[in-house]
Amino acid sequence: MTPAEKLHVHHEKLIGTIRDLAERTKSDNAEASLLITFCSEYLISHAEAEEATLYRADTDTGFVENMIHEHRAIKDTLEAVGSAYGKGDSAAIVSETQEFITLLNKHFGEEENTLMPKLARKLTQEELEGLIQEAHQIEAEKKKSDLWSLFEHDHKRIDFNISRLRKSAGNSETAKGIFSKVRAQLLKHIELEEAVLFPAFGEHAAPGQTGPVQVMIAEHREITSILVTTGDSVDEKSLSKNIDALIGKLTVHNKKEEIILYPMINRALRAPERVKIFKECFEGMAAV
Ligand SMILES: [Fe+2]
Ligand SMILES: [Fe+2]
Ligand SMILES: [Fe+2]
Ligand SMILES: [Fe+2]
Repeated sequence: MTPAEKLHVHHEKLIGTIRDLAERTKSDNAEASLLITFCSEYLISHAEAEEATLYRADTDTGFVENMIHEHRAIKDTLEAVGSAYGKGDSAAIVSETQEFITLLNKHFGEEENTLMPKLARKLTQEELEGLIQEAHQIEAEKKKSDLWSLFEHDHKRIDFNISRLRKSAGNSETAKGIFSKVRAQLLKHIELEEAVLFPAFGEHAAPGQTGPVQVMIAEHREITSILVTTGDSVDEKSLSKNIDALIGKLTVHNKKEEIILYPMINRALRAPERVKIFKECFEGMAAV
């Protein structure tokens, strides 16, 4: 494979997932959480690596400045998706997501059709290969693997669906559909915490630091018991009562994780481990 083909394969993998997450976000706004966490892990590090390698090798400063400017614009649009998501503004979520994908498609096209052929004429294949290798290395180092933000965004996604559930009261078929989504996402979230995140923290935590984990696990049992007793065939009145109970428990539980536990976990785990856990947990979240 030539260096240009390698970059193309890498781009296709990245953009394939991003396009898929953008489509999901447009049809189900809560999925913006996944789009944002995926891009902040894999796309931002990719752009930073390119600026330090491939862009630096191009002497056409006007072109390079424009490409860097496009990186900023892509990042700004992603932030605009996040702010529309925070406000629950559905029309803005859809339009900013569309704008984001349009910019990204154009930018990737320019890299493959303009930048790479230029570099291929200027550098030997070996030099270009070395540059791509260096880019991969920098990309790996620049990954933030922020587990705090990943799990906090998953809380947001579930909260978004719970508030939809609230609004759908009175339409029992819609409510049931949303409830089963909330249940699947919440059970998966708890499973990832108990089977992946907390055990990894347990291995690295200082003595006495794992107390909050035991409290969180006990609260998970209370949360799952509400989910289980609600069931599928529940009547409207008890569904509404159970949603209230669920919101009450989650509000307190999630705050404790976000303020105390997740920051501790981020600090305790080393980068290579966080990279691995981020990937595994992201994939688990995206599967439901
Ligand atoms: Fe780029
Ligand atoms: Fe790129
Ligand atoms: Fe939890
Ligand atoms: Fe959580």
